[in-house]
Amino acid sequence: MSRRPSFSRSSLAASTMSVTVRAGERKMGRSKDFEVPRGISNLPYYSQPPGAGCGALDVELICRISELVEGPGMNRILVIGGTGTVGRQGVSRLAATGARVRAMARNLGAARLPPQVEVVRGDLTLPETLDGCLDGIDAVFLVWTAPATAVAPALERITKHARRIVFLSAPLKTPHPLFQQPNPLRAMVEQIERLIETSGLQWTFLRPGMFAANALNWWAPQIRAGDVVRWPYLAAPTAPIDERDIAAVAVRALYEDGHDRAEYVLTGPQSLGQFEQVSAIGRVIGRSLRIEEISPDEAQRELLRIGPLVAVNMLLSAWAAAIGQPAHVTSTVAEITGAPAKTFLDWATDNAAEFRA
Ligand SMILES: NC(=O)c1ccc[n+]([C@@H]2O[C@H](COP(=O)([O-])OP(=O)(O)OC[C@H]3O[C@@H](n4cnc5c(N)ncnc54)[C@H](OP(=O)(O)O)[C@@H]3O)[C@@H](O)[C@H]2O)c1
Repeated sequence: MSRRPSFSRSSLAASTMSVTVRAGERKMGRSKDFEVPRGISNLPYYSQPPGAGCGALDVELICRISELVEGPGMNRILVIGGTGTVGRQGVSRLAATGARVRAMARNLGAARLPPQVEVVRGDLTLPETLDGCLDGIDAVFLVWTAPATAVAPALERITKHARRIVFLSAPLKTPHPLFQQPNPLRAMVEQIERLIETSGLQWTFLRPGMFAANALNWWAPQIRAGDVVRWPYLAAPTAPIDERDIAAVAVRALYEDGHDRAEYVLTGPQSLGQFEQVSAIGRVIGRSLRIEEISPDEAQRELLRIGPLVAVNMLLSAWAAAIGQPAHVTSTVAEITGAPAKTFLDWATDNAAEFRA
């Protein structure tokens, strides 16, 4: 993490109000006095300052706090990529706070988002569709999977409408071999970051490592089909991060002050080899999986079902380079959200149904 939010009781002493919250009595077995920064409205997942021991609170309590707090915060949020792995979690969390959240989708009928979410049609490759989506928006959560040609016009539109942007990037600056292999997407992501940095917007870059959810694409089809998983570089360690943790940090950065110009490298809490990750899934679903190492050449052919050759080669070179040292692990999720990052076992347990035939 390059910086921590300036969010503490002492630094906010002059600008806070004290709120006695009793909604927690029933669920948490206690009541508590919180100091809530005046500049933050619809504050989600309010917890005590990092390290104070109070984790994310239940939704009832969050809503209660949201009602109590007033202020000129980032009330209207647009999530671009809100139907994807991370964006969908972000949208759900924002919606649970009672925030005015809007999600952009190319196909409204397929969006399947909570009913209180405003879903608008927009396409990053069609800049003229973006103005309507951005109208009245304070902050944007940007997940970018569109082509590079669409970057400049889309960022121009976003800059015109919003005041704050949280961008889902990657650990481009972390000097661990897993993150420093040739990557055809790197130039595009750097271009997006440069445009954001010079836009005048308040910005935060989220730099997650490997997603735990990659397992759905990588291993679930094999595990649903039988007990054998064939995979390359089984000893390569990563620290898979749960998409819910990325979304939780995004929500903080969208709402709270103190995250401007922050670059958060986000990982899961443990370094785990790929063999151990597949084994963990087997344990969770109660099956003994046979995990077989295949050669990089064989993998290059077989993995084409999970993505184009450039993406497969990117992964193969990253895993090859990662062998022999533990994965890079940060404590940023816990520091920002107040709750520990979820383990891969947590993720596998909550997604077990996806691996059952
Ligand atoms: N997987 C990893 O391990 C990993 C690690 C670090 C960083 N990342 C980064 O994370 C990002 C991917 O996040 P994710 O997995 O949450 O994405 P995802 O599940 O692939 O979802 C992509 C989202 O982008 C939307 N989208 C795609 N093309 C669009 C367009 N032309 N206009 C508007 N919306 C468009 C999709 O919406 P519709 O299709 O519904 O319109 C969908 O909501 C990438 O930038 C990747 O580099 C991934």
